[in-house]
Amino acid sequence: ILGLELTGCGGVAPDAVLDNETLMQMVETSDEWIRSRTGIRQRRLTPPSQSLGELAAQAGTQALEMAGVAPSELDLIVLATSTADDLFGSASWVQHRLNAPQAVAFDLTAACSGFLFAMVTAAQFLRTGVYRNVLVIGADVLSRWVDWNDRRTCVLFGDGAGAVVLQAREVGDRLLGFEMRSDGSQNNCLTLGYQPQEQVLTPEISVSQGHYGTIAMNGPEVYKFAVKKVPEAVEKALFRSGLTTEDVDWLLLHQANQRILDAVAKRLKIPAEKVLTNLSKYGNTSAASIPLALNEAVRSQQIQPGDTIAASGFGAGLTWGSAVFRW
Ligand code: ACO
Repeated sequence: ILGLELTGCGGVAPDAVLDNETLMQMVETSDEWIRSRTGIRQRRLTPPSQSLGELAAQAGTQALEMAGVAPSELDLIVLATSTADDLFGSASWVQHRLNAPQAVAFDLTAACSGFLFAMVTAAQFLRTGVYRNVLVIGADVLSRWVDWNDRRTCVLFGDGAGAVVLQAREVGDRLLGFEMRSDGSQNNCLTLGYQPQEQVLTPEISVSQGHYGTIAMNGPEVYKFAVKKVPEAVEKALFRSGLTTEDVDWLLLHQANQRILDAVAKRLKIPAEKVLTNLSKYGNTSAASIPLALNEAVRSQQIQPGDTIAASGFGAGLTWGSAVFRW
């Protein structure tokens, strides 16, 4: 079994900024409500002319440049997204855009846990020695699927993409431990469901020719779930790493809501200054949020080489998980 190292990261968000004041002209809400309940001040939105694939490829390019890995050296690209440009998957489009013909590429869908699940999935290929150079991208354009008349959800989400390069190493393993969980019994708490519409083909046979709806969320239930399950997952991943919360330099949670970040940190007894947060600028960017925040903290030298990071994703499915790694 080989080890792996994280050797590069990248992150991008679209240019357009939607701040709380502008949202107040669209739905009945207030800057004060949004900031006090969520910590979000603004979010970045993707115009119709820009694709999910483009955002993903830009973040991927940044990560490859930092790692000093040429696209031609890539063996695998995993694109974590719930908002692919194409229901058949967008990873192959990204592979072509990056000019990485040797890389096999596929999408992985696990909502806001997507990046974490993708990173752990990629690690298995590296540890078995099958692949040496992997690009993991988390990207989502939830603005396409938000009901912009629903104040309970439209204030929360934003668009973005982040990426990391993982490389196999003969000595040392920087992914120290992980935990991944799903609970489909709570699936209806957060959905973006297909809405069937019958189309009759023959008197005996009909099929469904529907379309996808908009994001539907039971906010309080998701909140309770996150605050209970995320600390458990972090503790389990730390235990498997042979570490405790005291060894954590940075808590890197999916950027859903500042109150969730605060409550999880409090339960874990991790001080606020070790909690990475950038959601005031981007809102909840789903699969992009963890690598976006990681990228900002690495490039601003907040995260230093060798720092121990406890990351956790959580969201629709319901899904959640944690990974402990060293930068
Ligand atoms: N502006 C003003 N008032 C609002 C708004 C708004 N934008 N949204 C809701 N309200 C009102 C509600 O209508 C309700 O009013 P009522 O009591 O008169 O009916 C009141 O505020 C309280 O609503 P709650 O939903 O109970 O508010 P809560 O304090 O729970 O905060 C929130 C809502 C922020 C959504 C919170 O529940 C939360 O963060 N939940 C977790 C959501 C989350 O993280 N989801 C993403 C998971 S990641 C993924 O997989 C996509």
